[in-house]
Amino acid sequence: MTKRVVILISGGGSNMISLVRSMTGDHPARPCLVLANSTGAGGLVRAAEMGVPTEVVDHRLHKGDRGSFEDVLHGVIAGYKPDIICLAGFMRVLTEGFVDRWQGRMINIHPSILPRYRGLNTHARALEAGETEAGCTVHEVTAALDDGPILGQARVPVLDGDTPEALAARVLEMEHRLYPAVLRRFAAGDRTPVWLG
Ligand code: GAR
Repeated sequence: MTKRVVILISGGGSNMISLVRSMTGDHPARPCLVLANSTGAGGLVRAAEMGVPTEVVDHRLHKGDRGSFEDVLHGVIAGYKPDIICLAGFMRVLTEGFVDRWQGRMINIHPSILPRYRGLNTHARALEAGETEAGCTVHEVTAALDDGPILGQARVPVLDGDTPEALAARVLEMEHRLYPAVLRRFAAGDRTPVWLG
């Protein structure tokens, strides 16, 4: 049976777009919702243009109460009966309580070669450390930040004179290849990691 996919975003949603575009033809999944934690997320317009339903659960309305934000988030997502949740540039840390409810069904893309550079500012930190390669990782979401079984990883070279922005753009191109490749496998029930680059 076709799997239903909810995609969570916070910003422009370029990964979301690459995921939505990939779910056609014989793909085992289809998008059923794009949800953002802010009405300002540019990806919402793009999702609507692609014919995907959109919702917003604004974290600012739950200031200081992460549990209440996550309860509403869970309720909205559950209403769409997803089989898979893809975090695609979703910039809210999710607590164990939320993650537990979706464990094994929620995946994330992170812009580094995990386990290196969990958290934020991955590209600047990789450059400061003198890395010769960078990349991105898709992993199952567990309660620990940017952790969980790796489902795919892609590598790009760090070039002379790279800025964090230039490196981020090179990695993002790889993200757009890696995430759809992993989702296709994951939706087919195959957790064998995808290696690119
Ligand atoms: C992507 O580079 C993604 O890997 C990163 O945010 C960007 C979102 O871009 N995610 C994280 O840093 C998660 N911790 P997009 O909105 O264009 O997909």
